[in-house]
Amino acid sequence: MSDVERRASPPNPAEEPDMTLTDPETTTVTAERFRDAVDSDGVLERLLSSSATLSYDPEKEVDWDAPLEPLHDGVNPEWCTLYGTDLWERMGPEQRALLTRHEAASVASIGIWFEMLLQQMLLEDIYAKDYASPEFQFALTEIADECRHSIMFARGSQLIAGRSYKPAKGLHRAARLLKWIAKGEVAYTSILVAEEVLDVMQRDWMRGESVNPAVKTICKIHVVEESRHMKFARHETLEAMKGAGRIRRQVSAAMIAMVGYFIVKSLVQPDVYAEAGLDVKEARKAAASNSHHQSLMRLSCVHLMDFLSEAGLLTSFAKRMYRRVHMI
Ligand SMILES: [Fe+2]
Ligand SMILES: [Fe+2]
Repeated sequence: MSDVERRASPPNPAEEPDMTLTDPETTTVTAERFRDAVDSDGVLERLLSSSATLSYDPEKEVDWDAPLEPLHDGVNPEWCTLYGTDLWERMGPEQRALLTRHEAASVASIGIWFEMLLQQMLLEDIYAKDYASPEFQFALTEIADECRHSIMFARGSQLIAGRSYKPAKGLHRAARLLKWIAKGEVAYTSILVAEEVLDVMQRDWMRGESVNPAVKTICKIHVVEESRHMKFARHETLEAMKGAGRIRRQVSAAMIAMVGYFIVKSLVQPDVYAEAGLDVKEARKAAASNSHHQSLMRLSCVHLMDFLSEAGLLTSFAKRMYRRVHMI
């Protein structure tokens, strides 16, 4: 296993990240993820109190005025969709760095898109719930986090790439329906899928030597705050799945897999190649057959797939969808 593959391996489920902005490398074994997800007693209260003590204001934490160096990367080069291809070998150092910055801006932009969708799904889910419940209050806390994240991603994209990206038009329009059709486990597991994929990437980028310092801080903030969101999503998924019958499981698994498929497929928009001065058709072809990138994606999703399987949401249809975007 190469260095980057080792770093891309998600943390062991037995390890709960306990990171601070000053010492992001620190990880402490404090809880067992899956046990926490099923053990309802106090999980949500603990998440609320953790949010109260460990949340960040990106406006103050990120050095928005730091100069942008031409060789600063946006994502670790090993995560670039063209890394290891013949086309990559033909690119100069500045062009490679430029491409990685546009790929980071694209991932962040798709992150904003999904964060807007998930906020709508959360609001729909808690609309009629008891205002005094920790579930209601944590969902609102998560929405508040996502508001800050989306502004942070928007500013970050502008900083490193001078622009943001949108998913394909039809998909962008169709996704408006998600808040109406994604309920219970479909909403929470869709959220989890997107958060897990981003989490593994950002854990690596925040340690990348050549990665722009503002991007590193953005990744650290997101990793810390998202670890609570993922715990909440796992908890809500398992709660929602209690007593779910075979047909509901099949339908929910298919819907979640389709959301996962479109999110992963959209992460790097084709325009990034044009921005880096590449022939878009040639670059897309090279990226589509890049086995290095595909194996990174598979490694990143190992624990997510374990959880889906445990929750009964890894059906054969779902597996086929995940396989098409190299998540398994
Ligand atoms: Fe977020
Ligand atoms: Fe989140």
